[in-house]
Amino acid sequence: MKATIERLNQYIGQEVRFGAWLANKRSSGKIAFLQLRDGTGFVQGVIVKNDVGEELFAQAKNLPQESSLYVDGTVKEDDRSPTGVELQVTGFEIIQEAEAYPITPKEHGTEFLMDNRHLWMRSRKQHALLRIRDEIIQATYAFFRENQFIKVDPPILTGSSAEGTTSLFHTKYFDEDAYLSQSGQLYMEAAALAFQRVFSFGPTFRAEKSKTRRHLIEFWMIEPEMAFCDHNESLEIQEQYVSHVVQAVLANCRQELTTLERDTSKLETIQAPFPRITYDKAVEMLQEAGYEVSWGEDFGAPHETYIAEQFQKPVFITNYPLEIKAFYMKPDPDYPETALCADLIAPEGYGEIIGGSQRIDDPQLMKQRYEEHNLSEEAYGWYLDLRKYGTVPHSGFGLGLERTVGWIAGTEHVRETIPFPRLLNRLYP
Ligand code: 4AD
Ligand code: MG
Repeated sequence: MKATIERLNQYIGQEVRFGAWLANKRSSGKIAFLQLRDGTGFVQGVIVKNDVGEELFAQAKNLPQESSLYVDGTVKEDDRSPTGVELQVTGFEIIQEAEAYPITPKEHGTEFLMDNRHLWMRSRKQHALLRIRDEIIQATYAFFRENQFIKVDPPILTGSSAEGTTSLFHTKYFDEDAYLSQSGQLYMEAAALAFQRVFSFGPTFRAEKSKTRRHLIEFWMIEPEMAFCDHNESLEIQEQYVSHVVQAVLANCRQELTTLERDTSKLETIQAPFPRITYDKAVEMLQEAGYEVSWGEDFGAPHETYIAEQFQKPVFITNYPLEIKAFYMKPDPDYPETALCADLIAPEGYGEIIGGSQRIDDPQLMKQRYEEHNLSEEAYGWYLDLRKYGTVPHSGFGLGLERTVGWIAGTEHVRETIPFPRLLNRLYP
């Protein structure tokens, strides 16, 4: 197999050759230290003038940042290195001497870095974040497969809205109007009645003029949907899923978490079950703490943060008032002003990472909702069919990938948790 930096510890004492970029370098007289990256990781290459000769040594010393090269060397064990190895460079072949690289080891402003996102991705912290994102995706697939879910892909172009019309991206679909999907949920309900347990993972779009550290215009959502499943069973799946993902990152991304200086003690404790409080209780807690919030209002970021701070783990807030939630949510038979729903609030101020609910299964009630919300049978007839032909109790939820990455990796802003963020004022690069 080809040697990569990530696996260099399998080649101790051996000669290797691999393609790499020069991330950084420093030299002192007769010895130079090259920070090499090959995409799988970073390693220090040590190059000694007496070993490689005058000419090659001079070339190494003058090589600009991000130049590409093939490197030859011997892998040495090294306790001080995070990967446990160092490379004794014996030679190299330059592919390209890079032009002056805009991102230097000095500090840069965020807007500048975002303008150079296509290059910034190469930097250590950004690299670590996107590796953690990948781990979460892999752990997601593994968890749902293990639990008998199959992946179903809902459409991205839709003829109607799933979560309300205020944040829809409009486009023309030949002569018809179409919208970019804000949630695949309605389609996933159809899929759950065909396959019982399903999940989707795809991009979703919200034309919201929100400019916060939690909002993206384009974000990726994981949407599981389960037939013969009530709200409580759904909460159990949610807490197991989130615990699984956190534990997978802890097990497989130690180095990335270290690079990001993440306090992992806060993650070790993330194991199901998670605490549950009702919306009523949350309102009470907030009022006692002096927040001005009254029954029937939605919570803002400061409210969520305060609630989250009262717990060591993510916390479910259940039973929101029906009128502030989506049309498809089933009223709680024991408290019909509220929905059988929950938001999962992440610890440490990262906010809502999951929204979920049990769905209305009664065709009569669903028809009533269509009238209240002006939903046409023309556009939503198929969704009503799901209640006519073998309706069953069913529940589901949506987890926002970027907010989850942000929380687990301990990153302030969601813009760094997706390769090319789409933000209110950003469509470039
Ligand atoms: O709470 P939301 O809007 O729920 C739904 O879309 C449901 N249809 C899901 C379902 O039941 N299948 O969104 C779910 C999650 C949020 O909890 C949040 O993590 C994330 O999606 N999210 C966003 N992430 C980044 N930027 C935004 N603008 C987001 N809006 C929602
Ligand atoms: Mg929500």
